[in-house]
Amino acid sequence: MNAWNPALYRSWFVVAQSRRLKSKPLSVTLLDRPLVLARLQSGTLLALDDCCPHRHAPLSAGRVTAAGLQCGYHGWTFGADGRCTALPGLAEHACQPAVQVGSLDVMEYDGFIWVRPEASGSLGSQDLPAFLRRLPPASRRFIWSATWKAHAVDALENFLDPLHTHFVHSGLVRAEGNRQRVEATVTRSAGVLQVDYRGQPQQSGWLYRLFESPRELERAHFAGTAAGSAQLEYRYQDSGVLYFTLHFSPVSATLTQVHGTLHVENRWAPEWAVRTLAWPFLRRVARQDQKIVELQAANKTRFRREAGVSTELDLVRPSLDEVWAVPARPLTEHTRRVDIML
Ligand code: FES
Ligand SMILES: [Fe+2]
Repeated sequence: MNAWNPALYRSWFVVAQSRRLKSKPLSVTLLDRPLVLARLQSGTLLALDDCCPHRHAPLSAGRVTAAGLQCGYHGWTFGADGRCTALPGLAEHACQPAVQVGSLDVMEYDGFIWVRPEASGSLGSQDLPAFLRRLPPASRRFIWSATWKAHAVDALENFLDPLHTHFVHSGLVRAEGNRQRVEATVTRSAGVLQVDYRGQPQQSGWLYRLFESPRELERAHFAGTAAGSAQLEYRYQDSGVLYFTLHFSPVSATLTQVHGTLHVENRWAPEWAVRTLAWPFLRRVARQDQKIVELQAANKTRFRREAGVSTELDLVRPSLDEVWAVPARPLTEHTRRVDIML
């Protein structure tokens, strides 16, 4: 499936960790579109189609010069807006042809390079959803990346759905046979989804017992303006807050880059402690999710299936489908409450 919902082209996506983009150009692919990222000598970021208009060499095989990103084949050079700024070999009086490479909006935020396929000219984190903008940068404890052989929307749904945790992370996140009634409030407004889970201060899994204290609230966030990003926010009665944020970047319909962060607020959590104590458990949870989502992807291909049967317990999928499904499935604003046994 190469058709993408057009809403995705107006959305910001994480495409790389900032630290990976140094002086050399970097090749990435988003929504089946091969791109080159570069940090120009002025500090400006550049995101262009990774194809030189001259003889189609990949621009990511070139280098950054004072004039911009230089193709490694004949030296044509391009600025951040994709226009050709230098064409080696042209005599001084010769007219420089007006050539341009497709460009994307690009910015850096919270340790990542973000791009928006349909350039709108407004470049800043003010376009990101509120749940991403309020992340306290100084509180980040770790950042990680992986590649999943699955569609991004299935990976997103997996991250935001609590009902798989008893099975996929059995004993680690929640335990089957120890369910409690939880009130879930789903709020949908202007392309933003928020799900609040109340009524489960204590969890049945080991992760809770080892690292958490009584919870006040678990909240899930998603918004169409950063359609690959989602967040789980855990607020504790002792005023601590954990923010797990995952960014799913669709390379293609069958491959997704995953970048994650954990921000911790008002809680003792030195970096060494998170890395040595909590991280091995979290990595295990991530591997368990990756395994089931990859099995799901392979089976959908085997049976040629797309959407599945949903019930009122599938709280987030309709909001995800609004920007991910082809054709689009528009949603109206609403608030609804559902009791779930978690
Ligand atoms: S192919 Fe890029 S300059 Fe010739
Ligand atoms: Fe999971």
